[in-house]
This record gives sequence, structure tokens and C-alpha cells, in this order.
Amino acid sequence: MTFQVAVLAGDGIGQEVMPQALKILDKISHKFQYHFELTHALIGGAAFDQFGIHFPDETKNICNNAEAILFGSVGGPIKDSHLPKWKDCEKNSILALRKNCRLNINIRLAKIYPALSALCPLKEKLVQSGLDIIIFRELIGDIYFGEHKQWTENNLRYARDIADYNESQISSIAHFAFMLANHRKKRVISVDKANVLDTSKLWREVVTEVSKHYQEVTLEHMLVDNCAMQLFINPSQFDVILTSNLFGDILSDAAAALPGSLGLMPSASLGQSGIGLYEPSGGSAPDIAGLDIANPIAQILSVALMLRYSFKLETEAQAIENAVQKALHEGYRTKDIAINENASLEKVVGTSEMGDVIASFI
Ligand code: IPM
Ligand code: MG
Repeated sequence: MTFQVAVLAGDGIGQEVMPQALKILDKISHKFQYHFELTHALIGGAAFDQFGIHFPDETKNICNNAEAILFGSVGGPIKDSHLPKWKDCEKNSILALRKNCRLNINIRLAKIYPALSALCPLKEKLVQSGLDIIIFRELIGDIYFGEHKQWTENNLRYARDIADYNESQISSIAHFAFMLANHRKKRVISVDKANVLDTSKLWREVVTEVSKHYQEVTLEHMLVDNCAMQLFINPSQFDVILTSNLFGDILSDAAAALPGSLGLMPSASLGQSGIGLYEPSGGSAPDIAGLDIANPIAQILSVALMLRYSFKLETEAQAIENAVQKALHEGYRTKDIAINENASLEKVVGTSEMGDVIASFI
């Protein structure tokens, strides 16, 4: 069986962690006899160097012809963000890609691995029952994609960003979240700001309507400011969080702090076009790029999500997740997840060696 995958390594550590993900894919293809046809394409600063834009048509076509996109990261150093190569690079690449592939459903995971529980910044008693949160973030609506405008009137500068939602945008992601919750703890917490915003009032109404189709799953509504606090004072109450684009952006970064390193968290973006995009939750980290110290686990776990959601290869996805757990359990650590207290039990390895170790455990 052949699967078409577009590979967009992008900038910074994307160039280093993507080869590790491809090692894993290669191992899966040999072990389970699948053929992954990989087409590499440029995006972000890497694309700008060659084409003068961040998301060229060549890349767009390759993505449109793929069944899944493995994405690394884009963007350059903050001090260079005024340069044409880096100005609006993330926005021009990522938002355009989401819109082009109609990726309306974003899934981000925040999970504490037992071997790494000491990395969690919270008190141990708050997370002793473990943590495995999945955040559903609507990805192509809301204030991100409404009108953006700046103007001057009577010598006063104004700016406006419009937030829009229609009911089908909300129900589409809500159905997906409830379906998934049905296979988990059967509990959805929908997050909004319905005490102020009309988009949130509609969000709440539609999510409640959708919930009627899933009698087994309980629904709770939570205001976003409270949710941000609850993530840190009682994180284990969460299983599936369902929220809009802007709130999801903020809450998913907050939740990603809990496992202790952004380098552990994969994410999936899905949509009605059928193309899925899989990427680490973290960025291009230009400050550590090229040093062979970046953590490739988020990129590797993104491959597992691709196998699960785009190709329905659950056994193979679990083989990758188990291999990651085993590497952590046996003490392999990249620098970001090394815990000094247990130094004697830990083997600190570089990006590439971590890729080799995980591949060897599949
Ligand atoms: C993310 C990022 C993007 C977003 C930025 C880079 C446009 O923060 O994927 O969470 O806000 O969606
Ligand atoms: Mg973000």
C-alpha cells in the first residue's frame, strides 16, 4: 500500500528534527510493509530564499496532491524579524497553509510521561494521577480570519480585528471532539467567553446542540479565564477541551507547559479536504538550531498521529508511541528533558542519536 506524504521541514530545528521523523517512517515502512512516497517542499524562510515568498505555488501544489503533510517549523530569530525573509513568516506560511488545505480542526496533546513527571512545573500532588489532555482548537475561523484593519481618523490611530463564526464551523469541530471523547473519558469541556462575546454565545448553543447526539458524553462549559486558571490548579479534571481559534492558541501553549518541554508535544490539523497536517507544537527555535540538541520527539510523535488519523494505521501509530515511551523509560534524554537529580540513570543524547534510539525500539 502506498501513501503520499508532503514533507515540509521549514526552518530552524525543523531541518534537524524532520530527518529523525523520516527515520521512524522508514522503519515503519520496512517493518509493516507500507510504501510512503515522500515529496519534499520548501516553506517559510527556506522558501523565501528560493522563491521570494513564504508559501510558493510549488509547495501549495505538492500539499494539495498529498494525503498528509509532515510539517517541521517556520520562522527566524526575533532580532531579524524586520528582514523581508522573516517578516510575517509564520503568518504567511502557517495561516495560508491552514486556509489552503481547509484545516479547521487542530488537535494538541498535553501529556505527562511517567518517566518525566519531575519536569512538570506543578506540585506533584496536582499531577499524581497523571495528565493526558487533548485540546481541540478550531483553526480557520474567529478573529484570525476576519477583517484586520488599521486606520487614522482625526489624528487618532485605530485598529480593528473582526471575529466571526457560523454554526457549521462550530458543529464541524464539535462533532469531531465528541466522537473522540466517546473513546476516552467521555467528558468534553467546551471553553468560551459567553458572558461577553456573541461568537461565544453561538459557540455554546451549537456545542450544546451537537452534544445531544452523544448521550454517553457529558458536556461542561467553562469560561476561558477560569480555564486558564484551572489548568494550573486542577489540571487532572481535563480530558477533552473544545475551543475556538484564539482561545485554543493561548490555552494550548499554557497546557504545553505542563509536560515540561514543548519538544514533546505533537499536533494534528484535519479538515474536510481530507488532507491532514502533522507538526510539533513548538516553533523553529533558531537559537538552538544546528547544534544537534533539539528534541525530535514531538516531530516523531507527529508521525504517529499521521498514521493514526490520515492512514488509519493504529497499530503502527502505537508502535511509535511505545518506542518513545521506551526510550524515555530507559533514560534517553535530549538536553531539554534531562533531569539532573537522576543524572546517573540518564543518557543525554543529541537529536540524531535520539532518532536512532527510538527507531531501534520499533
Ligand atoms: C500556533 C502559532 C500560530 C497561531 C502563529 C505562528 C500564527 O502560535 O500554531 O499556535 O497563532 O496559530
Ligand atoms: Mg500558538
